[in-house]
Parts: sequence; structure tokens; C-alpha cells
Amino acid sequence: MLKITYLSHSSFLLDDGTHQLVIDPFLTGNPNSPVKVSDIKAKFTVLTHAHGDHLGDGLTIEKGCKAHNMHIGGGRNFEFGRLKFTIAHHGSATQDGRYMGAPAGVIIKMGGKTVYHTGDTGLFLDMKLVGEIDKIDALFVPIGDNFTMGIDDAVRAVEFVNPELTVPMHYNTFPVIQADPEVFKSKLSANEKDCRVMKYGESITL
Ligand code: NI
Ligand code: MN
Repeated sequence: MLKITYLSHSSFLLDDGTHQLVIDPFLTGNPNSPVKVSDIKAKFTVLTHAHGDHLGDGLTIEKGCKAHNMHIGGGRNFEFGRLKFTIAHHGSATQDGRYMGAPAGVIIKMGGKTVYHTGDTGLFLDMKLVGEIDKIDALFVPIGDNFTMGIDDAVRAVEFVNPELTVPMHYNTFPVIQADPEVFKSKLSANEKDCRVMKYGESITL
């Protein structure tokens, strides 16, 4: 069992009933966040890259916690399950230009399910490999364009990964990434893919 809660933008909370893990917790300063940083009780935090809309409150949440460094292509078993990082075609510097490592996507095996959060990225053909190596139960894919894939490239990403369920992310938070998730969904249904446009704070259980 894996419960997925959408915290808006690219942030998700995963809960297998025992462990909670938060991905890219951009909550403070995010007008769409349904929760405050103090509401987050997750013991584990996964960050895809260092841009403010992903790193977000990550350092606050992690204060006093142990950090574990990983890199692209590497996987590791943790108490909650397994993490493996994938490439992402994007940047990862801070606003003042400091290098903060390579951006990434992440495959998370937890609660008997496998989810793939692509991070911020453009479309890339190797996404096919991700879908070949693991059966992806849920794919979190950006559709907002400008900084990441837009709707049409995201449709191709879904075809590459072939997940059981797709959840669009990284749209409508800022004026420059306006996108209609229903348009994305309608383009997918032609391919008979299951897509769920999640509301802020909404949960689904796989
Ligand atoms: Ni970014
Ligand atoms: Mn971003």
C-alpha cells in the first residue's frame, strides 16, 4: 500500500503506513501549498535539485537529520524502501550562482509500489529504459513548459515510461508555467493512459 498526497507544484508526500517521505517540499512562499512546513512529520526527504521551488523547506525539515549523498544511476536501500536516481536535463545552481550538484529524477520503491518522479527535466529517450527496467505504478511528470517539458513532450514521456498512473506536476504555480492539466489528460486518454489531476492536498492510495 502506498498513499500519495499532492502538496502542489512538484511536492508529494508518500506514506506506506509506517514511513513518510516528502519529495521537493516547496511549501513556504508557495501560494498553493495546502500545508505549512510545521505540518510535515515525514522522517525522510528526497530532493531532486537545488532550485528554490524544489529545495524549498528541505533544509528546515532536515535540520538535525542525517543526509545521505547519492548520484545518478545509483540506488540504495533505506528503512522505507529503495531509491534510485536518474538523469534529468535541467540545472541545479542557486540563485546567486553556486553549484549545487546535478539535477535528478528519482525512482522510489515503497509500500510494494514503484513511483518515478522525473524532477524538472526536458524529454529524453532514456525514459524508455526506466519503464523497461521497472513497472512504474505512478509517474509524476512536469507539464508547465518553459523550464521543463510542456504538455506535448510530457505525453511522449508517458508513452516512454508506460506507467499505470500519471500525475501531472510543475504547472500553474507561476505565471510562466501556466498549463491546463485537463488538456494534458485529454491528449493521454487517446492513448488509453490513466491520468489523475490531483488537487492540492488530495491523496490517492495505490
Ligand atoms: Ni528547477
Ligand atoms: Mn522547478
